[in-house]
Amino acid sequence: MIPSQSYSFSGIVVTLYFFFLFSFVLHTLASPKVHYCRDDQRDALLEFKHEFPVNESDPNFYDMIGSWNKSSDCCSWKRIKCDSKSGQVISLDIASVPLNNTLKPNSSLFKLQYLQNLTLSDCNLYGEIPSSLGNLSHLTNLNLVYNKLVGQVPASIGNLTQLRYLSLSYNQLSGKIPVSFANLTKLFALYLSYNYFESELLPDMSRLHNLEDFGASGNSFVGPFPPSLFTIPSLQWIQLGGNHFKGPLDFGNISLSSRLQILSLRDNKFDGPIHESISKFLNLEQLDLSNNSFFGPFPTSLLTILSLRRVNLAGNKFKGPIDFGNISSSSSLSVLDLSHNKFDGPVPESISKFLNLEDLDLSNNKLEGKVPGFLWRMVLLKLSHNSFSSFGKLSKVLDQAQIRDLRLDSNSFRGPFPHSICKLRSLEFLDLSNNSFSGSIPLCLRNFTKSIQVLILRNNKFSGVLPDVFVNATNLHALDVSRNRLEGKLPKSLINCEFMELLNVAGNKFKDKFPSWLGSLLRLNVLILRSNQFYGSLYHPHISIGFQMLKVIDVSHNDFNGTFPTFYFSNWLEMRQRITLNPEDGDTYMGYQIDTNDLQLVIDSRSYPTSMDMVHKGVDTEFEKIRRDFIAIDLSENRFYGKIPESIGLLKGLRLLNLSGNAFASNIPLSLANLTTLEALDLSRNQLSGQIPLDLGILSFLSIMDFSHNNLEGPIPRGTQFQRQNCSSFMDNPKLYGLDEICGKTHVPNPTPQESEKVLEPEEQVINWIAAAIAYVPGVFCGLVIGHIFFSHKHEWFTEKFSRNKSRLVIRGTH
Ligand SMILES: *[C@@H]1O[C@H](CO)[C@@H](O)[C@H](O)[C@H]1NC(C)=O
Ligand SMILES: *[C@@H]1O[C@H](CO)[C@@H](O)[C@H](O)[C@H]1NC(C)=O
Ligand SMILES: *[C@@H]1O[C@H](CO)[C@@H](O)[C@H](O)[C@H]1NC(C)=O
Ligand SMILES: *[C@@H]1O[C@H](CO)[C@@H](O)[C@H](O)[C@H]1NC(C)=O
Ligand SMILES: *[C@@H]1O[C@H](CO)[C@@H](O)[C@H](O)[C@H]1NC(C)=O
Ligand SMILES: *[C@@H]1O[C@H](CO)[C@@H](O)[C@H](O)[C@H]1NC(C)=O
Ligand SMILES: *[C@@H]1O[C@H](CO)[C@@H](O)[C@H](O)[C@H]1NC(C)=O
Ligand SMILES: *[C@@H]1O[C@H](CO)[C@@H](O)[C@H](O)[C@H]1NC(C)=O
Ligand SMILES: *[C@@H]1O[C@H](CO)[C@@H](O)[C@H](O)[C@H]1NC(C)=O
Ligand SMILES: *[C@@H]1O[C@H](CO)[C@@H](O)[C@H](O)[C@H]1NC(C)=O
Ligand SMILES: *[C@@H]1O[C@H](CO)[C@@H](O)[C@H](O)[C@H]1NC(C)=O
Ligand SMILES: *[C@@H]1O[C@H](CO)[C@@H](O)[C@H](O)[C@H]1NC(C)=O
Repeated sequence: MIPSQSYSFSGIVVTLYFFFLFSFVLHTLASPKVHYCRDDQRDALLEFKHEFPVNESDPNFYDMIGSWNKSSDCCSWKRIKCDSKSGQVISLDIASVPLNNTLKPNSSLFKLQYLQNLTLSDCNLYGEIPSSLGNLSHLTNLNLVYNKLVGQVPASIGNLTQLRYLSLSYNQLSGKIPVSFANLTKLFALYLSYNYFESELLPDMSRLHNLEDFGASGNSFVGPFPPSLFTIPSLQWIQLGGNHFKGPLDFGNISLSSRLQILSLRDNKFDGPIHESISKFLNLEQLDLSNNSFFGPFPTSLLTILSLRRVNLAGNKFKGPIDFGNISSSSSLSVLDLSHNKFDGPVPESISKFLNLEDLDLSNNKLEGKVPGFLWRMVLLKLSHNSFSSFGKLSKVLDQAQIRDLRLDSNSFRGPFPHSICKLRSLEFLDLSNNSFSGSIPLCLRNFTKSIQVLILRNNKFSGVLPDVFVNATNLHALDVSRNRLEGKLPKSLINCEFMELLNVAGNKFKDKFPSWLGSLLRLNVLILRSNQFYGSLYHPHISIGFQMLKVIDVSHNDFNGTFPTFYFSNWLEMRQRITLNPEDGDTYMGYQIDTNDLQLVIDSRSYPTSMDMVHKGVDTEFEKIRRDFIAIDLSENRFYGKIPESIGLLKGLRLLNLSGNAFASNIPLSLANLTTLEALDLSRNQLSGQIPLDLGILSFLSIMDFSHNNLEGPIPRGTQFQRQNCSSFMDNPKLYGLDEICGKTHVPNPTPQESEKVLEPEEQVINWIAAAIAYVPGVFCGLVIGHIFFSHKHEWFTEKFSRNKSRLVIRGTH
């Protein structure tokens, strides 16, 4: 509806005015674009495309460069931009197109002389960077990240003087940074991380006076830190972790207008104290100096920087008391990691002035005294491996308690379970292990069973029963109450822990039947019942066997008895897999994320080392990390009898089988020869008869074995591994023959006086592989980190290190 229409003169003028304006705009928009793609540019692009094995119908290419063709204007092609005036191609971005080839020196790419943006990231490019790249003199952005480029960076890169952004990270480039880099004075972002660059950084970084971000982590740069870097006024972000820089950190003259926000020098070899001039970085937010050799007292001046949010000084040699100085209430500090240093004394109460502090890691120091009550306000609190002995006053802060991850392990705590922990209703990870807590485990645990994911009470003096509080523990992944004085039966409510992956109750006084009912826990990987008073049979005809996901079971040193039906192991599907580790990268598997082939429990993207104990012949061993392909059965030192079930041969992934010290009789199953990954086999001290299956001789990984104290007869298999054994592995089998070669060969020289106390009498000289491993871990103490060495070799956990002669030296305290 048009309101009253009055045609006034001025109205017409206005209308005409708009008419002309409109047609002008229309004309401009519709006018033919002068700037169709130029033929030479189009041809260069098509030639470039054909330099690579591009499959045009493969969707990986089609949406990108596959559709480039002559029937359309090249300026309309995907991943291309042209200059609207000249029609020159100015941008080519083909990130993540699998080019799978080298970039040739005469590539048609270099005919695109007007390119400003060139992105060839994640294109599977290999070979060297051709020097002709220096021809693209208009480049402002060059991104070659995530390829497999090798060799030196050509000096001609210094010709690209318009460059503002350059990323060469995540390649395999090597050698020195060409000095011509110093001519790239317009650079504001330079990323060289994760290559093999070596020697020193550019001597005069200060010429890059526009630089804001500089990343060169994960290379082999050496030398002292170039102070010229700190003189670049625009610099905000420096990441130089994982290089070989050394010496003291010289900040030079820090300007108070420094804009530095992030400084990471982690994993280098810097030393010396932190100079107090660091406090002049008034805009610093994140500082990571971890894993260097910095020493001296706590760098108090650092904490005067109000903008500082995250500080990591872990893994250095700082010592003395922690001195926070005068803390301003406007400090932004929220994450502080001082772990793995030599700080001593108490934690100063003044820590309560850091009102934003959420994550605090003080583990592995020499701190002592009370845990200040204030710390219960953290979200993450790690105080492991210190000498803390008690808790400060808590009452006020407990209402605000929000701890999710609490690690108090390996301290000097004693007395009853700290009931205040029961107030922590969001607790997800609790580790109280290796203290002297005593008394009963309280019912109030149920206050956090809903949230708890990992509960470790190992190696304390807890007594009484394990309370039946797990009804709601549906998030519990690992429960370790081993090495306490617990008794009675396993709580039936554990059946509700549907996410349970690890259950370790070893070294207590539990007196119960075998918990067959746990067989329904579909994720249970590791079950350790060792050294308790469990009794009865493992097999009941009317109960399904379950335990499909089991990888490690240790029921040794109990009072179990009974026989196994021949099919017993056929249900253990997980052990029937042969697990291959990916030596290169992490690998996800059944709820575990595997980092460098160690099994880590990953929950909510935080990782926790899993652990378990296994004992062998009286030696307690703790596996701090369980390698994912560690598959083991230990039924030793019980009273099992009857035949060893033939179905054992189905467990193709098995590496360790210990059935010693039982009453197994009849023949050794021939199917054992199918266990091609088997590395250790102990059948000693049973009543086995018949021959040792000759096919066992072909098991090439089987390096440790013991058949002694049985009624075996016939020849010893001829395999190399058998020939390497000690005589004692076969002793006390009167009808076994072929021992001459073995026993004759390993003539043991007279022990030196030092050794003699450790060298055991032949009868006692039993296979003791875990003990052997222990002895080769330098500087360990009680709760041994044997996993570290034991599993650090990619494919075998018994290496030359544990060869016979050496292991003999460390056999101790057996039987
Ligand atoms: C090209 O890709 C298509 C679709 O992925 C595939 O079917 C075809 O085999 C591939 N051709 C060649 C030669 O690799
Ligand atoms: C050629 O390019 C046009 C426009 O991108 C596209 O629609 C067409 O499918 C392409 N032809 C071929 C054979 O790829
Ligand atoms: C080049 O890339 C930068 C950053 O992504 C962008 O700002 C700029 O507009 C691009 N220039 C061209 C010509 O595509
Ligand atoms: C590119 O190489 C990768 C691995 O090198 C391979 O998986 C892929 O099939 C190759 N793609 C083409 C198109 O050749
Ligand atoms: C580039 O050089 C190679 C030999 O190095 C040659 O085979 C190829 O034809 C040349 N390509 C162009 C586009 O000139
Ligand atoms: C590089 O530029 C020079 C001069 O502009 C030219 O002669 C040469 O052919 C170019 N190189 C390549 C590989 O395009
Ligand atoms: C490019 O760099 C090389 C090596 O640094 C130099 O010899 C050459 O003159 C430069 N070319 C141009 C056009 O600047
Ligand atoms: C840097 O550029 C200047 C002038 O453009 C030139 O003289 C000098 O050789 C270049 N330096 C390097 C290292 O390429
Ligand atoms: C457990 O939670 C209840 C209910 O919130 C609370 O009253 C009780 O004090 C808690 N127990 C302990 C020991 O903190
Ligand atoms: C389990 O949770 C329910 C509902 O939240 C609660 O009523 C019950 O008391 C809890 N049981 C235990 C043993 O914590
Ligand atoms: C197993 O041991 C228990 C005592 O722990 C005994 O009562 C039972 O008879 C034994 N069973 C067998 C089959 O030996
Ligand atoms: C070993 O495994 C093969 C195939 O998996 C099977 O045919 C054979 O019977 C097994 N040998 C024994 C002795 O169980």
